[in-house]
Amino acid sequence: MSCNSCSTTVVGTAEQDATLREQIAALRVDNSLVQILQAAQDIYGYLPEKVIEVIAYEMGVSSETVYSVATFYSQFNFNPKGKYAISVCLGTACYVKGAGEIYEKLKEKLNLGDGETTPDGKFSLDACRCMGACGLAPVMSINETVYGNLNVDSLDAILEECK
Ligand code: FES
Repeated sequence: MSCNSCSTTVVGTAEQDATLREQIAALRVDNSLVQILQAAQDIYGYLPEKVIEVIAYEMGVSSETVYSVATFYSQFNFNPKGKYAISVCLGTACYVKGAGEIYEKLKEKLNLGDGETTPDGKFSLDACRCMGACGLAPVMSINETVYGNLNVDSLDAILEECK
């Protein structure tokens, strides 16, 4: 599938669009679709449909091909993250210390499913694998801040910090 407007469509802000096209131009030499997708996600915070179309157009492949590569890797997101992007580690060390229960409690408190964002855009919730902080297990992050030694009773106070 081709997209006639992809060469001229500005995706996001003009600065984001320019950076995306620079990254594609720089990385297409190695035909590295995964690196381009990572760069795009770094620019936009997720992979909007229009970005997928532009990448497909610029790489001379179908959008379906780009989607099939992107969906193979768990690090790619197709929905915008919340202002507070919560990621609960479900790696082994965290899981055995109750991370699964913490994840389920957050889903219940925020009324969210895996990878979803609240309608007001405030919170998003994901699970991830080891964050490299196993000594603090169970662990979650909100944006760049890591919270360790969690239990379900500590969640309200942490969520309150975000209000
Ligand atoms: S398993 Fe959770 S930080 Fe390592």
